[in-house]
Amino acid sequence: MTLLDDSFPESLASAPITTDIVEPPPMTGELERDPGMPASTWRLRSDAWEYLRFGVKRIALGNDDESALTGDGEIARNLRALETIEMYWAGFGQRYVRDISELLRKGDYQNALDRIGRVVQRLRNSTVPDEPHNDLIDEIERLEITDDCDPRPRFEVLVIDETTAGDRDSMRAENMRLRSAADQFIYDFVVVPSADDAIAALLTNPNILACIIRPGFSGRTTQALSRDLRDTITLAWESAGVETAPASSSLSSVQRVVRLADVLHTLRPEIDLYLMAGANIEDLAGALSRRFRRVFRREDQLELHLSLLRRVSHLYDTPFFAAIQDHARRPVGVFHALPVARGGSVVGSKWITDLADFYGLNLLLAETSATSGGLDSLLAPVHTLKKAQELAARAFGAKHTFFVTNGTSTANKVVHQALVSPNDVVLVDRNCHKSHHHAMMLTGARPAYLDAYPLNDYAFYGAVPLSDVKQMLLDYRAAGRLDEVRMVTLTNCTFDGIVYDPERVMAECLAIKPDLVFLWDEAWFAFAAFHPVTRRRTAMAAAKHLEATLKTSSHHLAYTEQQKRLFAEDGTPAPDEVWLSERLIPSPDARIRVYATQSTHKTLTSLRQGSMIHVYDQDWVRDAREPFHEAYMTHTSTSPNYQILTSLDLGRRQVELEGYELVQRQLDLATSLTQAIARHPILRRFFRVVDAYDLIPEPLRGIGGKMPLRQGLSDMWRAWREDEFVVDPSRITVEITKTGVDGDTFKHDYLMDRFGIQVNKTSRNTVLFMTNIGTSRSGIAYLIEVLVKLSERFEELSEELDPNMPLPGEVPMPPLPDFSAFSSEYSTDGIRPDGDLRAAFFQGQQRGAVEYVSQAELSRRVAEGERPVSAGFVTPYPPGFPVLVPGQVISREVLDFMSVLDTREIHGYDAVRGYRVLKP
Ligand SMILES: Cc1ncc(COP(=O)(O)O)c(C=O)c1O
Repeated sequence: MTLLDDSFPESLASAPITTDIVEPPPMTGELERDPGMPASTWRLRSDAWEYLRFGVKRIALGNDDESALTGDGEIARNLRALETIEMYWAGFGQRYVRDISELLRKGDYQNALDRIGRVVQRLRNSTVPDEPHNDLIDEIERLEITDDCDPRPRFEVLVIDETTAGDRDSMRAENMRLRSAADQFIYDFVVVPSADDAIAALLTNPNILACIIRPGFSGRTTQALSRDLRDTITLAWESAGVETAPASSSLSSVQRVVRLADVLHTLRPEIDLYLMAGANIEDLAGALSRRFRRVFRREDQLELHLSLLRRVSHLYDTPFFAAIQDHARRPVGVFHALPVARGGSVVGSKWITDLADFYGLNLLLAETSATSGGLDSLLAPVHTLKKAQELAARAFGAKHTFFVTNGTSTANKVVHQALVSPNDVVLVDRNCHKSHHHAMMLTGARPAYLDAYPLNDYAFYGAVPLSDVKQMLLDYRAAGRLDEVRMVTLTNCTFDGIVYDPERVMAECLAIKPDLVFLWDEAWFAFAAFHPVTRRRTAMAAAKHLEATLKTSSHHLAYTEQQKRLFAEDGTPAPDEVWLSERLIPSPDARIRVYATQSTHKTLTSLRQGSMIHVYDQDWVRDAREPFHEAYMTHTSTSPNYQILTSLDLGRRQVELEGYELVQRQLDLATSLTQAIARHPILRRFFRVVDAYDLIPEPLRGIGGKMPLRQGLSDMWRAWREDEFVVDPSRITVEITKTGVDGDTFKHDYLMDRFGIQVNKTSRNTVLFMTNIGTSRSGIAYLIEVLVKLSERFEELSEELDPNMPLPGEVPMPPLPDFSAFSSEYSTDGIRPDGDLRAAFFQGQQRGAVEYVSQAELSRRVAEGERPVSAGFVTPYPPGFPVLVPGQVISREVLDFMSVLDTREIHGYDAVRGYRVLKP
């Protein structure tokens, strides 16, 4: 039986969140089941209800004694946990849980089971069972039962105020009364008494899409929360610049409201805040308008109701999708391009009607090359596409967002071309995606390659230490060439999940050169904007925070103080060691110029090739808008794919409405997988999850543990706040040395061919499993099952192995080669690392300029002291970065590395003829 099997209690017992034992909470002194590791609460809630049903059923059938019902018994503990959990969700509520406890106490198991069953059904998103037999059910619940069958999308609204049970009932009754058949959505209230509970509710309940603050709320919670949740609440206060929940006595009511609003906004910026007050509402409206969408009087229930629905309809709005649907329904005649439009060339065909059968006719009805009639032109959007991109900017925290229909490969080229000119120097991780190298070949900018730290044990690279980036900038300054450096581009996160702290990187680089532009390649990180912990390491969130920080007086002061240490009185800079040892503070006048490219299709909902460019550039209008426009024109097809654009529009709607839930679930499922591999006796023998200690060298690690999320969300939060590098827990690198096969064989011959499991990246001794927002619990269960089956197979095979022969993963690999150097013809001054990639590339295009040389011959020449120069890119997959670029000296290290590579795919290398080498 696998870890995530549907049966209970085994699956519950092994699930990470539910085995989290119980911590004595300070408020009550009572032992409680951990009521919520926030990253996993969606599952904790449903697991606890499922388990309750299982446990009560056993007792009802006489299969278990009644000790589970009392004291520390499983059922009693679950009920206590659920009483807290349900406080943060609409619908059933604490009273419902208490009623079940009461039924159980009286031995009325059948009625208790009915009530539990109703929750379980709702959590499984299925229909509600028949009316319960008991008459405990009140009028509001009766309404709710009918309401359960309502197919309209449902959301929840958090109300923060001290209330009585009577107040809450009348709020719910009022809500029911205001509902109308014409409403597009329905909502329920979640009512919590304190600021702490509001944070707990936002962290645990992703269905909440709006908050109403009423000034009567208290500060601290009285719930028995787990230590992790309490720590997370404290961290949330800190992240908004407030130490703890504001005590009622020390602050004015406006201050308390402002602080709470700030912390809620920091946690879930997509959520709208409303203030509901009695007296002096006009004064409050003036003082608080920036933080609140609207301030209401208590009597304005209808207005509030309409505002709540309207706001969610704005999130739901997908202007381009709506235009496409409208177009598909219109009768139109096609007298221009695109024969497939309206199914023209397909539905009447004798041979290809299966295209429409397979994809559906809507695909063709929605196909058009028109840009009018409600549709829009991606190249000069003024209408629905413009609006869709503005909504995406809002969702991702950018000032401007641009849709790209041919992937981040193109998005990167657009940004490079927009921002750099020939001979500008770009500091770039040599290990970056090939599109950056190609972009520099096109623009004529000179790459100065930064080397990521190597992870030789696993045959891939990590990320570039900030001290190396700083050192390179200092070197350019020392050479009097700092003004040539225009842009820094880094991959965040890396394919393997190593995550930078972009705010810190940008701040320290700007302290050396205050007009640098940053391009963050977030091909793999679009999802991160939708969780409070991961969001702060996205380029857009970092840019916004940095911009705000530069404006503060404390920053000003700290900057002035640091300058005294960094420069002597005559203006001479202190030695590099000082600049490297200090956390550099940028000038308050530094410009925030940040670009991020994201493959929406890699981590969020979008068809393949759907990407976005997000911009946070203070000099956009003055310096970037026009060049960006030209660059966008250069690389964008005049026939962009409308389905991709539609999917980007819908992907944006999804993340605004349920992004938090999906990312939370993704992180949680990934944690389950790592736990399963770590705990399962047979899996442990063949597989090992590579942790943060393996992926981040000691000096760059900081306070984070090996797998911080496994300890709890608060541990992850701290590490993500403090450490230079952290690891994205949704990516799981598994070391497979003991299986006796290499990564490539494992991927193709075992996972794909035998079980249809697709993975993307392998190295000689590792396989990378990525979870995403589409990963399901049963998908994880299937993977675990497959790994168990494979382990059994590997066990058999291991008996046939010669113990004296090293396993493929144990064969020592030569170290990963650093960037050697540009040859002197293409390097700028022979000292600095940058070079003219473009000149070398075009030299290689000249007739007779290139010769093909075999590996053996090249090795001989290098041994004799020659410095052969590559004419092209040579990129083995894996590891997937160019080990040679045009103009690069072919070194012994590169040849050694290539000689032991056994990958199936090496772009730019001809196995028969050898390497393309520039003739001297
Ligand atoms: C870091 C990085 N950047 C850019 C890209 C290119 O993205 P796309 O496939 O959307 O063109 C990739 C693709 O794997 C990547 O890994």
